[in-house]
Amino acid sequence: MPLPLPRRGLLERRLVIVTGKGGTGKTSVVAALARAAAQAGRRVLVAETGREEHVPRLLDPATPPVGYAGRELQPGLTAMRIDPFEALAEYLSLQLPVRGLVSRVLRNPGFRQLMEAAPGWRELITLGKVWHMAQGRRPGGAPEFDLLLVDAPATGHGLTFLDVPRVVSSAVRAGPLRRNASLVQQMITDPDSTLLLPVALAEELPARETAELVQRLREEVGVAVDRVVVNAVTPPPFPPGLEDLDERLARLPAELHVPGLPGPRTLARCAAHLRSRHRLNAHYVGAIEAWTGLPICTLPLLPQGVRGPEDLDRLGTALLEPAAAEAA
Ligand SMILES: Nc1ncnc2c1ncn2[C@@H]1O[C@H](COP(=O)(O)OP(=O)(O)O)[C@@H](O)[C@H]1O
Ligand SMILES: [Mg+2]
Repeated sequence: MPLPLPRRGLLERRLVIVTGKGGTGKTSVVAALARAAAQAGRRVLVAETGREEHVPRLLDPATPPVGYAGRELQPGLTAMRIDPFEALAEYLSLQLPVRGLVSRVLRNPGFRQLMEAAPGWRELITLGKVWHMAQGRRPGGAPEFDLLLVDAPATGHGLTFLDVPRVVSSAVRAGPLRRNASLVQQMITDPDSTLLLPVALAEELPARETAELVQRLREEVGVAVDRVVVNAVTPPPFPPGLEDLDERLARLPAELHVPGLPGPRTLARCAAHLRSRHRLNAHYVGAIEAWTGLPICTLPLLPQGVRGPEDLDRLGTALLEPAAAEAA
């Protein structure tokens, strides 16, 4: 019996940070949630943190890049890409009055080289920008965005991204850096507003890595996690009542011949392959649930991949389905 999903839906948070190894479907989940949230009347900001933009074109294949300035792609849905160097330039120009100096320093190749190698600042400055975006207000005082969705960097463990503010606020005693780190730390460790959403695949390695991520999150970082998304799960291959179709085919007389079809042995092997793929996926969905102790939200494998808004809506429905069923 799968664990029930938490009563609080994904769209009721202020900040959802989607994490997972590259290729697990993080960006697709972010884009799907963004669409679902906008359709539900939320004002959403999607922040990508990778070197390239993917979300805007998933939402609208013809759209030009949105960049650091961001753009409203459809009513209520704004997307941006947080480039750490641009965020640093913005931060410094807010802190230091001499603007020309900041941009000269940031353009200096020696400085860039130094910063490329320096640890931690990217995470802090990126989350700092997210914090800043979360403070935005509309005329009248309502928040500019009801929901901020962050596509966390795939490098290393999603954990480094979230652990830097804690490390900085414990290592630095005073000053603006300390203040920023503490604000970010408060935001991401507030379980009422922030949720980390891990995306995994139902395979051995991603399953183990997700279990480890969740354990370390609980022990070290203190960011709320209340479910795991398991993406691209193979649906049952045969209709109800025919779950053992491969075995039935294997029992057919070997000499049976249907024009245009291979013999029964080959058909049985194909069916057995489909069934084992589904079984393997189901096994690791169960394993992730057991290892993390968290409810699982499964998303179906889409045979053609995620091509555009229609596919995103299929994923969005699956992402919100259990919450909707509970609310009913
Ligand atoms: N449920 C799914 N079914 C089929 N293909 C998927 C699914 N989710 C993602 N994909 C495909 O997998 C690839 C990686 O997805 P993406 O969302 O970019 O992952 P990530 O951001 O974690 O690297 C893309 O080609 C995408 O179309
Ligand atoms: Mg991605």
